[in-house]
Parts: sequence; C-alpha cells; structure tokens
Amino acid sequence: MLYLYKYGCKSFTRKDGGMITKIGLDLGYANITVSDMTAGIYREQSVALIDKDSRRIISVGNSAIEQWDELSDRALLVRPFKNGLLFDRQITQSIVSHVVGSIPVEEKLRCVIGIPSDLIAKQEKEVFAILSDAGISESYAVNRAVAALIGAGGTPLQSVISVNVGASATEIAVMHNGQITYTSREIIGGEDFDKAVKQYIAEQGGVNVSLSVARAIKEQLGSVWHGKEESSVDIEGTLSLTGNSVKMTISSEDIVGVFEKPLHRLLMSVAVAIKKIPLDQVEAVFKNGIVLTGGGSMIHGLDLMMNKVLGISVRQPADSIDSVARGLSIINSKIPVKNRVGNKNITSLVANYYKD
Ligand SMILES: Nc1ncnc2c1ncn2[C@@H]1O[C@H](COP(=O)(O)OP(=O)(O)OP(=O)(O)O)[C@@H](O)[C@H]1O
Ligand SMILES: [Mg+2]
Repeated sequence: MLYLYKYGCKSFTRKDGGMITKIGLDLGYANITVSDMTAGIYREQSVALIDKDSRRIISVGNSAIEQWDELSDRALLVRPFKNGLLFDRQITQSIVSHVVGSIPVEEKLRCVIGIPSDLIAKQEKEVFAILSDAGISESYAVNRAVAALIGAGGTPLQSVISVNVGASATEIAVMHNGQITYTSREIIGGEDFDKAVKQYIAEQGGVNVSLSVARAIKEQLGSVWHGKEESSVDIEGTLSLTGNSVKMTISSEDIVGVFEKPLHRLLMSVAVAIKKIPLDQVEAVFKNGIVLTGGGSMIHGLDLMMNKVLGISVRQPADSIDSVARGLSIINSKIPVKNRVGNKNITSLVANYYKD
C-alpha cells in the first residue's frame, strides 16, 4: 500500500525545489503535524468522518471538518488517538496516509514520530506498521516532551523541565546531563479547558454549546492570568429546556475563573514533576526552568501563572503548537548513519547527537 504524494499539498514544498526526504510527524488528538527543516510546517486536524451505519470512512483531515455540517445527521467525527494513545488502527492509518500523501516526498522518506513516554511495545509496533503502510521506508520514535524541548530551541543536554500541553494530554520530561530523570503523561489538556467553558455556559445560561464552540470561546477570550484585552464573541447554542436554538454574546469577563479546575490539575502535574527532581539536580534544573509548549499551553497567561505558582522561570516559544513536530524534524536531520536501522525508539540516543 503506497500512498506517497497522492493528494498534493502545494504550500508544503522545499524552498530549493527539492523533494522532501526527512520529516518529523506529530500525531496528536487535535492535530497531525508534519515538519521538514526547509519546507516548514504542514498541519491538518487529526479527525475522520465515519458513516454512522456502515462505519465506512467518508473523509479524513481538514476535509472531514468541512463536510461535517452537511453530513452531521448520518456521520460521526472521530479522533482515533487520545491521551497520546492509539485507539483505532484503521482510522489512524487513513489519516496518516492522507497527510503523508499530501506532501511532495521522495519514495525514500525517513520519519521521526513523537510518542508518549509510556507507550507499550505493542502500540509502538503498531505505530511503525502504520508509517510503513503509509509508504514511509524508515521510521524512528522519540519521546514527545524531548522533541518539544528541541523544537523550542533547547537541547537535550540542558537541565530543564519540558512541559508539552496538547489537547488531550500533557507530556512532561525532566532532563539533566543528557538523561531523562523523570517523565510522565498526564490526562489533562486543552480540551479540559473547553469542557469547563461548555459546563459553565450550561450551568449559568441553561444553554448547550458544542465542544468546538466552547473551544473557539476559550481560544478567543480565555485567560488564566490578568492582562488580556477585554473582548466578546457571538455564539449559537440550544436552550437546555426546549432544544430551541439561541444566539448569545459571551464576553471575556463572563468566563473569568471557569478554568480553575483544569488549571489546578495541570499545575499539580508539573508540581509533582518538580518534587521528583533528585536533590543534586534541583539547582541546575531551576537555572533553566520550564520550557512550555503545545497548543494547550497557548491559553493566555499560562506561562505567568505557572511561574508565580510554582516559583520557577517559564519560557514559551511563539509558535509552541508546532514545537514537537519541529523538534522531531531537527532530530531526523541529526540521526547518524550508524543508528539507521529503522523502527526503533531513539529517545535515549538523542543527547548523543548533540555531544560533538
Ligand atoms: N490561541 C489559543 N489559545 C488557547 N488554546 C489554543 C490556542 N490555539 C490552540 N489552542 C489549543 O491547542 C490544543 C491543540 O494543541 P496541540 O495541537 O498541541 O494538541 P495535540 O498535539 O493534537 O493533542 P495531544 O498532544 O493531546 O495529542 C487545542 O486544545 C486548542 O484549543
Ligand atoms: Mg501533542
């Protein structure tokens, strides 16, 4: 099954006109992101539209979102990898094959994929099989938090805490002397903040809104620290009592304080990581502090809140949503010939690529 370059994505091309041979691939709950060192970033939503009766896949990626309105009475939107884990092999295959097929690549394509710290061997094998079936000839896997650190401009030789907040999960890695001294995957992410908005509107206004409307409200108005400009958005929902559709305006003031619970859980996860730092490493790690990445970390003020509550410096790159994919492509460009055997988790080797 070879899907390579079937669909054609005109914007994702190398500046020198050459074909793409080495990519980083971040398979997330909300987004699937491809990175190439010269072509940049290509991102689609990691979603499939499934026929409710036949379970047939109608479309995947961004076109699934585009068709959703029209087909919502007979189709379901499905996200096949949640909390960093893979839930449906066939749907995941369609999404990965579609995205890999959308970029102009050589037949010999090398890929480094991001995986959670605790992925079991069976799932790791399945991920490599999916990449192979998508036409990728050589694949490697790296811990997502390590990749995020590198994509944010750091190196695995630093003493630092990498915190990657996705839509469904947060991956944390404490690095010291080129080693991961603590790593964890926490079930908290941007979608928990969306759910808090949805619940608040249901409780306060008696109005049901979809999770995607709640997400849009969070992205435009949400804040966990003061200083964000006041604004408002017009939304549509349904009255809980009658089911009638209703339009309303939500202002940033309305949702002040709604993020308390997910924010607390997120901060606690990072606090646990800090508590687990071996005492002889604390000083070195606190010197560099936290590198904060992932789309879920982009809620206004999270860096400041983390800094104030945890008493540690926090650095967040501007395009933090793409840090994992960017880091994976950087790692791909550094894999030495002697390590090129394919289908291997190379997390423990990455620091070596930075030693010379
Ligand atoms: N400007 C913004 N403000 C707040 N949140 C944002 C913003 N932009 C994106 N997000 C959030 O980022 C999340 C998606 O981020 P990301 O692409 O890193 O997740 P993912 O990698 O697909 O998920 P996971 O890592 O859990 O598998 C969504 O929850 C989205 O609402
Ligand atoms: Mg992610």
